Amino acid sequence: MPTWLEDAVFYEIYPQSFLDTNGDGIGDFEGILRKLDYIKNLGCNALWINPCFDSPFKDAGYDVRDYKKTAPRYGTNEELKRIFTEAHTRGIRVLLDLVPGHTSEEHPWFLESSKATPNEYWNRFIWTDHCFKRAEGLGFIGGETDRAATYIISFFKCQPALNYGFLKPKEAWQLPMDHPDCMATREAMQEVMRFWLDAGCDGFRVDMAGSLVKLDDADKSGTQALWRTIRAMLDAEYPEAVLVAEWSSPKQALNGGFHADFFLDFMDNRGGYRSLFRDYDDALKGDRSFFKAQAPGNIHTFLDEYLEHYEATKDKGYISLVTGNHDTIRLTHTLNQRELSLAYGFIFTMPGVPFLYYGDEIGMRYLPLPTKEGGYFRTGSRTPMQWKAGKNLGFSDAAADRLYLPVDPSPDAPTVEAQEQDPDSLLSTVKALLNLRHRHGDLHAQANLEILYPKDRSSGAGPLVYRRGNLVVAVNPDLCAKSVPLPPGGPRKPVYAIGDSAIQGDTCTMAGQSFGVWGF
Ligand code: NOJ
Repeated sequence: MPTWLEDAVFYEIYPQSFLDTNGDGIGDFEGILRKLDYIKNLGCNALWINPCFDSPFKDAGYDVRDYKKTAPRYGTNEELKRIFTEAHTRGIRVLLDLVPGHTSEEHPWFLESSKATPNEYWNRFIWTDHCFKRAEGLGFIGGETDRAATYIISFFKCQPALNYGFLKPKEAWQLPMDHPDCMATREAMQEVMRFWLDAGCDGFRVDMAGSLVKLDDADKSGTQALWRTIRAMLDAEYPEAVLVAEWSSPKQALNGGFHADFFLDFMDNRGGYRSLFRDYDDALKGDRSFFKAQAPGNIHTFLDEYLEHYEATKDKGYISLVTGNHDTIRLTHTLNQRELSLAYGFIFTMPGVPFLYYGDEIGMRYLPLPTKEGGYFRTGSRTPMQWKAGKNLGFSDAAADRLYLPVDPSPDAPTVEAQEQDPDSLLSTVKALLNLRHRHGDLHAQANLEILYPKDRSSGAGPLVYRRGNLVVAVNPDLCAKSVPLPPGGPRKPVYAIGDSAIQGDTCTMAGQSFGVWGF
């Protein structure tokens, strides 16, 4: 396990919207370079950059046309390598976004694969054996190619699924995982990984990591076995490299060799991200998330699932809690600044490796916008970073109508510049929390979590009180003050607080909407 993960805090950059330095209305590598000091100063020591490779951008770059070439709109391979070097001199690691499950329909592999006559790439993607064949249980497209077959897609129509084989092939066109052509796909993806690791990146966030092996891999044993071989390659050749899964099932991902996995929402489970921050239920016409002050949220919805994954993966890797990402609706849509501060207090004091989405540190808003590059509802969370007052909020010198997406038009749109001056701003709170995390080894990624309260389901409205080594952390998102008993002899000295809270004797008293950390 690479030791740098122990104290890692990631900053996710959607490169389109971070900083435009050449006035074309879209963010670029030079923009990332110029803001490395800002990111370091914030307290983040690792980056995840969303896909920045050559692409027709029908899914914001998750439709890769050339894995080994950067998208010209961001800059050259050399400039990306400069990000690695400059980041490293500041103690910042860089993960690229690896999209192993599909390419763009314009990728040369796919163009070859769709030709009428067999060739080297004939089985690089998953094709049925007839132009009218329905692929049961899988999304498929027909009628688009010279090849007289239908092909499987992994997400949008523009994203044909790469062929890693089937766990239990049932038809002749379903190749087994160890078929030489499926092994060739795996090797090709390893080549892509080596290419960027040799260029200086520190690993990958892996898109849809749990989806590679097809039917019937419900328990994901096939996909896990596949990733374990890739992890073995990394351990042998790049032992410092890190793999973070977009899988949303740490039990499966970490057993499959990933170092970390996001705790978002897996299939129909309710105990992930949404139960904490946005548990909106149309039937109840209300938000039942734990961090919404007036909502009757129950922390057990989260704890039941989280602790199951935590216990099962303690010695294998980390669970990543996130403030949001390019696929979620920014939390400011439903949480106010106080609610957000408490949520961030929790995210940044839990075990595992936390991720901060660009702009979440200043509480950027979700802007309902027409879809851009396959974003649909996600587009509103991908607007330009708000650096300072004035033209395009400091994002770009281009005319406003040439921007990738419009900037927040509200007169009180939050900016970095304004919040840097204000000790009570969200940005100042984030900095203080990340500083606290780095200062206290007990708050790093390691598994040293003990839930002190609530112990049973009757008291799920909080506060939530947990111990991390020699520290106690408590958060009360409710509007009402609460007092709860603590085990005797624990830490009692205040270390950090938002709002009023105290531990006296063996009682923890929390004002409404407060957060506290105590040590010895
Ligand atoms: C997950 C990515 O986060 C999302 O943005 C993308 O659309 C899909 N995977 C398909 O690659």
